[in-house]
Amino acid sequence: MIIPKLTDFSEASLDQYFGALHEEARQSIEDQGFDKESFRLDWLGRKQGKLKQISDALLKSAPPEAKRLIGQRFNALKEQIEIWLAVEHLLDGDSAKHLDVTLPGAGRRVGAEHPLVKTMAEIVGVFQRMGYSVGLGPEVETDFYNFEALNFPPNHPARDTQDTLVVAGQEGRPLRERLLMRTHTSPVQIRSMLEQAPPLRLVIPGKVHRNDAADATHSPVFHQVEGLCVDTNITFSDLKGTLDHAMKAFFGSAVKTRFFPSFFPFTEPSADVQISCIFCGGKGCRKCKQSGWIELLGCGMVDPAVFEAVNQRRLEMGREPVYDTRRISGFAFGMGVDRIAMMKYGISDIGLLYSGDMRFLEQFA
Ligand code: PHE
Repeated sequence: MIIPKLTDFSEASLDQYFGALHEEARQSIEDQGFDKESFRLDWLGRKQGKLKQISDALLKSAPPEAKRLIGQRFNALKEQIEIWLAVEHLLDGDSAKHLDVTLPGAGRRVGAEHPLVKTMAEIVGVFQRMGYSVGLGPEVETDFYNFEALNFPPNHPARDTQDTLVVAGQEGRPLRERLLMRTHTSPVQIRSMLEQAPPLRLVIPGKVHRNDAADATHSPVFHQVEGLCVDTNITFSDLKGTLDHAMKAFFGSAVKTRFFPSFFPFTEPSADVQISCIFCGGKGCRKCKQSGWIELLGCGMVDPAVFEAVNQRRLEMGREPVYDTRRISGFAFGMGVDRIAMMKYGISDIGLLYSGDMRFLEQFA
């Protein structure tokens, strides 16, 4: 190796000199035929290594006042070469040559619960503390569980493909076996009653699908929490008391509830439940359209026709028809999680919940 002689020991001259050495070392790493061991010997070898020769030559000829400046640059170069070797060792591949270890590290982001998952877990928690267990069911359902057993008449509008996303190529099957994306979590009521005998207290969170055009308040995919309570002597008062307590536990003890007559094929009587507006306390504001109330869920007493359908299917499965409508009764309810999460967190566009936008999601960390 020829060591160029230095006559000028100014900082600028030293920077240029070491800069060139730095570049030379980097180039040989990027060389096609780069060999780690010969590179190491070439630069760091104790006797014949470039660094040894350079330091010998430079320090011999340099004036005493330049020695510190040389030493600093010499150490930096040596350190860089060692780092390159270490990285090359770690990665042992192409990327090492392009890795700039002086760049700031890639920060690790800490994960956070999605606002929907969080809201769903909180609602489920309220019912678990009342002794409910968690039930789950499939998102791809059959017409039987999603509609037939829930007492939907054959031409009910909800059965229409306008609302229901159906799985293609099912036309050859009997209607009850055709696959579809569940439009609500209620089919899990049926699945649960086929598996278990009363008494039953279940809370069922899950994803549901409807063929709705997406806008600020609609999404073809959304979430529900379903409830089912079946035992002897279950009355509408139990339903009212349970939901009133649940709403107070979730939104705060100042919240009031009120029940309006409604209709669902699988409950009779049915009701829609409103809570006093959580924004204005019931005085009337833009959020509640000046009414003081916000509609939150559907509910009702399990229709005997549902128990009959369960019993019949249980018989077909070789199980006892234990849902005796003369002895047992029950209530069910279902609520939309997305709307509740949007209210709770002040989210104005449901699409944000499904956008996967980190800037949105980070706010819930
Ligand atoms: N499944 C109904 C819906 O999606 C809600 C509901 C559940 C109503 C249980 C009554 C009882 O609209």
